[in-house]
Order: sequence, then structure tokens, then C-alpha cells
Amino acid sequence: MTKAPESAATDRTIPQRWSDYSDEEHAVWDVLFARQAKQLQGRATKAFLDGLDILHLSKPGIPDFEELSGRLQKATGWRVVAVPGLIPEDVFFDHLANRRFVAGRFIRKRRELNYLKEPDIFHDVFGHVPLLAHPVFADYMQAYGVGGLRSMKFGALHKLARLYWYTVEFGLIKEGERLSIYGAGIVSSHAESRFALDDPSPNRLSFDLMRVMRTPYRIDDYQQTYFVIDSFEQLLKETLDTDFAPLYARLERLPDFSITDILPEDRVLSRGTQAYARLKAGGRAQKPAT
Ligand code: PHE
Ligand code: FE
Repeated sequence: MTKAPESAATDRTIPQRWSDYSDEEHAVWDVLFARQAKQLQGRATKAFLDGLDILHLSKPGIPDFEELSGRLQKATGWRVVAVPGLIPEDVFFDHLANRRFVAGRFIRKRRELNYLKEPDIFHDVFGHVPLLAHPVFADYMQAYGVGGLRSMKFGALHKLARLYWYTVEFGLIKEGERLSIYGAGIVSSHAESRFALDDPSPNRLSFDLMRVMRTPYRIDDYQQTYFVIDSFEQLLKETLDTDFAPLYARLERLPDFSITDILPEDRVLSRGTQAYARLKAGGRAQKPAT
């Protein structure tokens, strides 16, 4: 039996085939880019906006991963590689642990500008890659990959995944007196990049590692709770310096919170009305008390 070449068979990457994108696909990227670059001025963290510049992401058209990786590698040693869609978790973590960010190569259609279920290249590249040009965030993502592989040995991936969700995807950061966005799921969403900062509905709570790993999340709508970090340095230091093994053991015995709980020990930046979520749940004015 002949062995398939190591990389192609095991790492799930595929060629991006940049020259295959149509004019329409490039045009969709440009529409999304222009709209979000404008919206995020004064909303996204400075590190994200700097990343757009460092990586020349304002260049028209869908980015070519080769070119993008060249710039990114110079900044922090990361690369961007294409994958066909969802890949096994251990493969995903292994890429992160080796400073490779995996991105889808397909782009949404013009009629789906505002929402789609599966992350596309706009979410993956515009949303995630700019912050990878920031040295501390870049280290955090790598550390998360290492930690992800480790969590699987403890059967604790579903707990650790909440950390990814509430930081990498939907994190907010304190910047001076105001809050800024850094989570990729927010920066790549036109509507949520307003909602997350401005709407009175969601809770905004100070980040706490154990608290986050006990909090489920929504994948189908805006978040009902956001967690706010003080700095990327704080996030990296806390997650890197903490041995998660005893935390996983404790988490097995501790119950989860519900998405909207506010606990006595929470540091509350804004107490959400949850009006938006209630409206979506069917317009009931108040949930019956339980
Ligand atoms: N220190 C963590 C562990 O012991 C690894 C980790 C780092 C997890 C950063 C998440 C983010 O597993
Ligand atoms: Fe994402």
C-alpha cells in the first residue's frame, strides 16, 4: 500500500485556487469590506483596525492567501490556509498550535449579505485574520490550539469551546473609558457590530475564566451575554499560566449557568434588559417566574 503524502491526507487543507473566483465573488467581498470597515471605525479595537492596515486588507477583491500569509508571517509568524468547510477538531487545533489559521474559501451570495449559517471567507478572513497580526493575540490563538488538544484528553472540549466563543468569536475589550469589539463573529456581522455595543438588551460582564466555561451560548442569534476583557495581555497571561486540568475536574461537578444569569460575584458593566431576546422568543412581555 502506498502512503498518501502526509500533508494533503491529514491536515485537510486544499488549494485556495484564487484565480477561480468570479468578478461577482470579488465584488461581494468589496461590498462587505466597505460596509464593515466603515462601521467598525470607533467600534473595533485599535489592534483590529491596525491589522487591516498591516495586512493591506483594503486592497480590492478577495485576498489571496499566499500574499496574505506573506504579510502575516512577517508580522507574527502565522499563515492562512484553505479548508473545505468543517474539519475535525483535533486537526483544527493542530493547525492553530502551529500558527496556521484555517479559512473557508467560499464566499456568501449577494442575497445572503447579512447572515449565513456556515462561516465563509469573509467571516474567516476579515473577522479573524486582522488580530492575528497582533503579537499577543497571535500567541493566545496558538495557546488555544495547544489547550484545545489537551482538553480533548479530559473530555472537556465543550467547556473550553465556550472560552473560544466568548473571546475569539464574541469578545469585547475595555479601551479607556469605552468598550470595543474584538470578536470575529461580531466584527464580521453588520448588525451585531452595532448590537453588541449599543443595544440595551445583552448583559456585558467582566471576563472570568471559570464563569465563562460554565456559560452556554447561542449560535442562532445575537449573544445575550458578552464578556469583556481588560487587555489581550491579561487574557493571554491568565489562560497560559493556568493549568486547566483541575478546572476541568471541577467543571464536571459544577452546574452550568443559564445564558442570562447575573451572579452576585459578577462585575456587571451593563445589566441587559434582554428585550431583544424576549421579542424574538415570541413577544411575551415577561417570562413566567419559575
Ligand atoms: N493553559 C491551558 C491548559 O492548561 C491551555 C490554554 C491556553 C487553554 C490558552 C486556552 C487558552 O490547558
Ligand atoms: Fe469564526
